[in-house]
Formats: sequence, C-alpha cells, structure tokens
Amino acid sequence: MSNFLRIVQMTDVHVGPTPKPVHNINAQAHFLRVLQHLQDMSEELDLLVVSGDLAQERGEPKAYAWLREQLDKSLLPYVIMTGNHDVLSHMQTAFSLPEADIQENAYFYKKILKNRPLLFLDSGPYRVSKIQLDWLQQQCQLHADQECLLFVHHPPLPALCQFMDASHGLRNSQETWQVLRAQTNISHIFCGHYHTERTLVRDGKVIYITPSTTIQIDTRTEDFAIEHRMPAYRIVEWSDDTLYSHVHYLP
Ligand SMILES: [Fe+2]
Repeated sequence: MSNFLRIVQMTDVHVGPTPKPVHNINAQAHFLRVLQHLQDMSEELDLLVVSGDLAQERGEPKAYAWLREQLDKSLLPYVIMTGNHDVLSHMQTAFSLPEADIQENAYFYKKILKNRPLLFLDSGPYRVSKIQLDWLQQQCQLHADQECLLFVHHPPLPALCQFMDASHGLRNSQETWQVLRAQTNISHIFCGHYHTERTLVRDGKVIYITPSTTIQIDTRTEDFAIEHRMPAYRIVEWSDDTLYSHVHYLP
C-alpha cells in the first residue's frame, strides 16, 4: 500500500453564530467557498485539518454546530483543533470529541494515516502545557524510526510579524522549542494563528504558517491592519521521501 498522504489545512476560520460580517467578511461564506473548492478538487484528500480558531470570538456554540453540520455534509475526512478563540467544552459538545483525547482541559491527540503518525497539540491558552510536551516526547520515542508531522495552532517561534509577535505569540515559546528541537523525527510543523503566510527554518525544522480563510494581517505594522481578504488554505503532499507544501488563495 502506498503511504502517500494529501492533507489540507484550513485555519482561523472564525465562523460566527450568524453570517453577519466582521471586518467586512462573512466568515461562513468564506468557509463554504473553501470547503466547496476542496470538494471539487479532483485529487483525493486523506485529511482536512481545521487548525484552531474555529469560532469568531469566544467559542460560540451556534458557530460550532454550524461548522460541524457543514463539515459532516462535505463527507471529507476531517479533524479539528483548538485555538485561542475556542472554548474546549463547547467544542467537545458540538463535535462529540472523545474524552480520552482531553487531559487537563487540553485537546491533544495522535492520528495514524497509512501508517504515518500525525500529532496535534492544543495551544489554546497561548501555551503548550507540560503534560503535552511530555506526551509529545513519548510519541516521538514510540515512533522513533518514523517521521511525525506536527500541527499546533500557535507558531512556536516569533515570525517577523510585527503586530502578532508583539502581543499574540506563544507565551512558553522557549520551553516549547527546547522540547521540539530535541525531537529528531519531527521536521515539519504546521501552524496558523498569525493570519499570514510564512515559512521559518530553525534547528533543521521547517515551521509553516498558514493564512486564514478570513482576513490576512499586515506583518509590517505594529498596529493591527488588514492586508487583504482572500481566503486561503494549505496543501501538504507527503510522499516516501519528499514533502511538498504550498498555500492556495481563492481570489
Ligand atoms: Fe489564534
């Protein structure tokens, strides 16, 4: 069996309980546009990762109910993650998240697809908790002879994005990076949160920051400013020996 994987990451979808526009964006409409685009793709998707900040402001239950309905209807295989605008208890109810994947109010888990391990962390409270860092090390040991892909909402390092780096970065970035850099079988880390597209390389690891499906933030200003409103997603194609990744914008 081929172990080729095609994964799509959608992030910071910020869907509200109603289609009412925020920043001149109807986030529900943007989400549906990207979802339809993915359904229309001729290539088969192994997984859609919705990587946090599903809700508009603060874990609105109606937003989660709406999202679950759309995702289920799409028939695409998907997983969800938490972001800082999410409320895990509301998300757990809406998406029937398994109790076993939640510890100390953090939703972190592993998924094995075609024998390849994918790890998902919870940085919702602007931190990756100790219990998750310990779990990550155990998982990397358990799969020591295999490359693991890692997904986490917050980029673990600053990313030369003035507004976001200044006040919205991961608060235990140093502690988190110390653990990540030591994991020799993690080379690719997929994040969101920054509402922009970035690639960083440090200690032999590549951090991919994926833009939002709503607004993209200007990275060159200290104050919040919108750069543009084109919805985006990332595609990751992972063959035996090469990982290909690019961001696609819907004009
Ligand atoms: Fe976020």
